[in-house]
Amino acid sequence: MKCPAKRFFVLFMLLGFVVVTTGASADILTTKHNLSTSGTGTIIATGEVRVCIFCHTPHHSTDDGTVDNLPLWNRTLSSAVYNLYGSSSLVATPGQPTGASRLCLSCHDGTIAIGMVQSAAAEVTMVGGVEEMPIGTSNLETDLSDDHPISFPYTAALASTRGELVDPGSLPAEVKLEDGQTLQCTSCHNPHKDPYGMFLVLSPDHSALCLACHDKTGWATSSHATDAAMEVEGCENCHQQHGAGGAEHLLQFAAEESNCLANCHNGTGDGVDIDDPITKMYNHPVDLTTGIHDVTEDPAAVLTKHVECVDCHNPHQANDQDAPLADPPNANGRLKGVAGVDSSAVATDEVDFEYEVCFKCHGGSNAFADAGILVPRVIQQQKQNLRFDPTNPSHHPVVDVGENPDVPNLRAGYTELSQIYCTDCHGSDDSVKAGGTGADGPHGSIYPHILLAEYQQDIYPLQPYSDADYALCFICHDPTLLFATGASVSSGTNFYKVQGANLINEHQSHVVAKGVACSVCHDPHGTTDHPYLINFDRRFTDDFNVSDPIQEPVFDPVGQSCTVSCHNFAGHIHNY
Ligand code: HEC
Ligand code: HEC
Ligand code: HEC
Ligand code: HEC
Ligand code: HEC
Ligand code: HEC
Ligand code: HEC
Ligand code: HEC
Ligand code: HEC
Ligand code: HEC
Repeated sequence: MKCPAKRFFVLFMLLGFVVVTTGASADILTTKHNLSTSGTGTIIATGEVRVCIFCHTPHHSTDDGTVDNLPLWNRTLSSAVYNLYGSSSLVATPGQPTGASRLCLSCHDGTIAIGMVQSAAAEVTMVGGVEEMPIGTSNLETDLSDDHPISFPYTAALASTRGELVDPGSLPAEVKLEDGQTLQCTSCHNPHKDPYGMFLVLSPDHSALCLACHDKTGWATSSHATDAAMEVEGCENCHQQHGAGGAEHLLQFAAEESNCLANCHNGTGDGVDIDDPITKMYNHPVDLTTGIHDVTEDPAAVLTKHVECVDCHNPHQANDQDAPLADPPNANGRLKGVAGVDSSAVATDEVDFEYEVCFKCHGGSNAFADAGILVPRVIQQQKQNLRFDPTNPSHHPVVDVGENPDVPNLRAGYTELSQIYCTDCHGSDDSVKAGGTGADGPHGSIYPHILLAEYQQDIYPLQPYSDADYALCFICHDPTLLFATGASVSSGTNFYKVQGANLINEHQSHVVAKGVACSVCHDPHGTTDHPYLINFDRRFTDDFNVSDPIQEPVFDPVGQSCTVSCHNFAGHIHNY
């Protein structure tokens, strides 16, 4: 602890001189805190030539008994009751401002006239008749909920409980804690010196001030730290220390996605354009909710329906390592440091696999989907981790390799041992992955269900046949093999029947000849009960003949038969 007697003796001696010429005190002359007539700012006195007098006085200094060691303070302290910063993730419990912060607030909360000093009988008059701090960025007002938290002990225990904080014993010398422990305005600002602007104790460039205390995991290699357009402003690209629009977490905007879209990822900013895909007809509706997402949410818990950019990306860690996604099912840098849910519905702080990001909302405890466009299937299941479960009789190979040892129509590059991503099917129609130039990722598409490519499934019969209608499947399955006729049928598909000496390709006869969409028979994900991804779309396979008893569509894997209304209303057993 500093020796107050010695400190105030120095102050007292300095205050004896009207013109200050030496040391730290000389530095103040060229700053906005020189409120005397010689000041260079806009808020200066009309006649007062003394510099220190606005804050200090050798005589009659303030002591209202609530602030220890007032540095010969010449001002009444504000009696305002402040709104305090708070958030779900904050560990500290800041109380009403204490110590040096109250000194700053005696001008900066805008409640006390700047010229109102103890030592003078009358208020010192200021140019332009300024009294209280004018409304604007320098007036923090009495609402401190949008300002960096202050007046709490920054202890080693806090740092270890919170994580991602530097041990207070290791702070750089410039960053001071009052009495060795309390974080105050003066931890970031020195009211006497302004070498870096804004009276900051360290340069804010390259996030140096923030990083003095915050040790954000993965920050050094994140795109937001290294990108040429962002590296200098660093944290302050997104965070605002005072008057933050989104008070919680000091973000510029209250609407979560605006922090990403408004200035950067909007098509004109420096970031990749996400505004375009996210506003396509079928999208992840990031603008639907505000304040529902919470950084502390347990991904394995039942969540209120929402989705924000930060549900899928960690702004402090995201980078371009291994991008685009190309090594399924591994997550890449764009998904680094994101929390998720694994295939057994267990929460994970950091996903290893892309699908774990998706299962947080589409598996585990949650099954967010647009009920209005759901395909009604025989086995209905919107918890996608259950549909992709490796113990299912069939599933596309996302979580694990597939169950079918013979899928003869796979294109080069794919085998029965391949794995694929959710985003191999769900992504933007004009993304790089889809052959365009737009951003990759499941942000939005012109196709329903945010599909990467055309996939006709709502019309039957679909005529005339065109490969383009099932472009999605044909990214991996080759239609010339799937629909092969003649002798080569069996080397293209196992869905055929023997008719005399001929093999009849049932894919060809259904899809090409009769306009039956793949989706009428196939579930794109997987089913808990049927092989070959068979899970009929009941819109087309239920019996709609009201005079008959309702005929449920059935696939019998043993008898290799389908009982569907397509064949006849009596429930014709169709062997193939
Ligand atoms: C705009 C207000 C303001 C002005 C003007 C001002 N000071 Fe200060 N001064 C402060 C505050 C606030 C503190 C408390 C800082 C702390 O606790 O870290 C302080 C503390 C001090 C201290 C105690 C040691 C320290 O740095 O904590 C000295 C010495 C001092 N001031 C000298 C001066 C002198 C000399 C002048 C005039 C040249 C001056 N001050 C002008 C606000 C001011
Ligand atoms: C005597 C009143 C007074 C006190 C006490 C005071 N300030 Fe100021 N401060 C001002 C005025 C006046 C300005 C100029 C505002 C403007 O031009 O908009 C200012 C400006 C600032 C600025 C903005 C600088 C810039 O370049 O725009 C910061 C930062 C600041 N003060 C921090 C502090 C901190 C931190 C404390 C306490 C350690 C403090 N002030 C105490 C009056 C005060
Ligand atoms: C954790 C660090 C930190 C703390 C604590 C802090 N500030 Fe600041 N302050 C900053 C930074 C960084 C800036 C510069 C922001 C910018 O350039 O936009 C700033 C800017 C300011 C400004 C200029 C206006 C503005 O919004 O840009 C004022 C006035 C100010 N601070 C006063 C205070 C007061 C009073 C306190 C205590 C109640 C305080 N600060 C606490 C970091 C801090
Ligand atoms: C002097 C050390 C220090 C500096 C410098 C500092 N912070 Fe902090 N910051 C803290 C501490 C300590 C907390 C409280 C953490 C807690 O209690 O959970 C905090 C809290 C925060 C919070 C709120 C966290 C929450 O969970 O609600 C944000 C956001 C934040 N700081 C951002 C910044 C940014 C951006 C900068 C740089 C402009 C910065 N800080 C500079 C020490 C500092
Ligand atoms: C690209 C924008 C962006 C940048 C750059 C950024 N942040 Fe953040 N930060 C956010 C967003 C968005 C949140 C809220 C996350 C959420 O709600 O899931 C946040 C939350 C936080 C939090 C509170 C929650 C947590 O994760 O601990 C702290 C503390 C924080 N940021 C500090 C920093 C620091 C320090 C830096 C610079 C080293 C920084 N941020 C850089 C966007 C950013
Ligand atoms: C934080 C929650 C969240 C996460 C994480 C998430 N989603 Fe979503 N998803 C939603 C919400 C909310 C909707 C909109 C549902 C609606 O329209 O009612 C949605 C819609 C969808 C749709 C369209 C649904 C439909 O009804 O047709 C698809 C496809 C989708 N998400 C795929 C994914 C994929 C792939 C991932 C992982 C890369 C993922 N989602 C991660 C919340 C999430
Ligand atoms: C082979 C392509 C493909 C893959 C891989 C795929 N999907 Fe889908 N997904 C579809 C299609 C097609 C639909 C349209 C609904 C249907 O046909 O039943 C769909 C529908 C959805 C829906 C809407 C709700 C529903 O149940 O229909 C969500 C959510 C979804 N997918 C998420 C995912 C997630 C999460 C993954 C990865 C774990 C994934 N998808 C992998 C093709 C795929
Ligand atoms: C449902 C999850 C999800 C949501 C919500 C989401 N993203 Fe993505 N995003 C992804 C995935 C997955 C990728 C990775 C694609 C890849 O690497 O192939 C990605 C990729 C990106 C990329 C890199 C694209 C490229 O091609 O370079 C950016 C930038 C991006 N997202 C920004 C955003 C922004 C901004 C938002 C909010 C407006 C957002 N994302 C919302 C999942 C999501
Ligand atoms: C990104 C590549 C990819 C896309 C796109 C894709 N598939 Fe597949 N599909 C595969 C792979 C790889 C297998 C082999 C898995 C196995 O051996 O079980 C497979 C297997 C299948 C199977 C056999 C599953 C079984 O267990 O018998 C069916 C049926 C199937 N796909 C249908 C479709 C349909 C319908 C579409 C379009 C909605 C589609 N696929 C899109 C890669 C893909
Ligand atoms: C009338 C129902 C039906 C339609 C429509 C249908 N399939 Fe199939 N498909 C099946 C059946 C049944 C099997 C299982 C064949 C076997 O192994 O016994 C199958 C098997 C598959 C397989 C596994 C490999 C193979 O061919 O044996 C793939 C891949 C496949 N279908 C893709 C598609 C695609 C892509 C479409 C649309 C272009 C489609 N199917 C349309 C019923 C259908």
